[in-house]
Amino acid sequence: MDLAPPSPKTQASTLTVLGLESSCDETAAAILRRHATGEVEVLADLVLGQTEAHAPFGGVVPEIAARAHAEAIDGLAAAALQEAGLGLDQIDGIAATSGPGLIGGVMAALMTAKGLALGAGKPLIAVNHLEGHALSPRLSQSAEFPYLLLLVSGGHTQLLIAEDVGVYHRLGSTIDDAAGEAFDKTAKVMGLGFPGGPALERCATDGDADRFDLPVPMRNKPGCDFSFAGLKTAARQIWDGLDQPGDQDKADLAASVQRAIARALAARSKRAMAMFKDRFPAADQPAPFIVAGGVAANASVRSMLAETAAAEGFELIAPPMKWCTDNAAMIALAGLEHLARGETDGLDAPARARWPLDASSAKLDPAIGSGRKGPKA
Ligand code: KG4
Ligand code: ZN
Repeated sequence: MDLAPPSPKTQASTLTVLGLESSCDETAAAILRRHATGEVEVLADLVLGQTEAHAPFGGVVPEIAARAHAEAIDGLAAAALQEAGLGLDQIDGIAATSGPGLIGGVMAALMTAKGLALGAGKPLIAVNHLEGHALSPRLSQSAEFPYLLLLVSGGHTQLLIAEDVGVYHRLGSTIDDAAGEAFDKTAKVMGLGFPGGPALERCATDGDADRFDLPVPMRNKPGCDFSFAGLKTAARQIWDGLDQPGDQDKADLAASVQRAIARALAARSKRAMAMFKDRFPAADQPAPFIVAGGVAANASVRSMLAETAAAEGFELIAPPMKWCTDNAAMIALAGLEHLARGETDGLDAPARARWPLDASSAKLDPAIGSGRKGPKA
């Protein structure tokens, strides 16, 4: 049942979209305007983190996240409108992440968006959070399709080809933990604090990455899937085997884990680059290789990916950090693109814990791994 009115606007008109996001531990609201020239302007971009609420537990607690989103989302939407100096009547569409993610959290933004859409008589656009990430480089530069994307965060680890808006091919994803989880869980075992990724990177600064021999997961396996559970377990076993570990032991283990994760990401990305070149032999060189997600903040990861990209005829591009991590600007952008195409959703759009961006690729092409089909895909 499609209760939302169809968009009266066309691709050529100016469009203004409010985007809402609450699928993990960031509550966010943003307003984007695309001018008739194609230029996209960010009129408001607000993000409210929840790190302090989750820190005592060493990880994101879904119930705490859902409650915090529910308390903050409507106020944040109002603040975004105020910052943009707009009323709801000046908004052309309301976009919200409708999955994949923690279901209690996803519902907060989606229900708010539905209420606003119904109350103001505006179209609703139910956005796949992964599509938001896939389009995020286009917030800061004119990334032309097709491009290769490595999405690497606490919730996702996947390699995708973005061929056009709505046309994504997933080349591989994690079969167990996300890369960010490997950082976070190892940091937790070592007592380094939350969030673990930045803490582990700091700890690794003076470490010897050659000291501990850690497996580089999936290195020689065909395809582009990832696995980080074995690496996490190996790191824990090394930690448990250390007798009263001191600062140097910690630094050495952190450096060894960081390098193993970076190597795994680079090795799988190299395979994805070969697949990209097979698919688009005539693509301009260097082709764009975009890395997004919180783990993209890691300097070792970035430098290893940049090295691999340069060797394979790609150029590593990382969107500004504020758009690498979860935000609503990317959700508004995805909403804007779909609204411009006249693609809107009914008020019965479901909140989804799982929603692969490219559900069919694993079935269509057995050379492409299936990976985990869920929020951590
Ligand atoms: O994209 P993000 O903010 O949220 C989602 O997971 O969606 O990513 C957070 C993840 C966490 O696992 C965090 O530990 C990791 O990104 N991270 C890092 C660094 N900064 C954030 N991992 C390694 N090194 C970092 N400097
Ligand atoms: Zn995300």
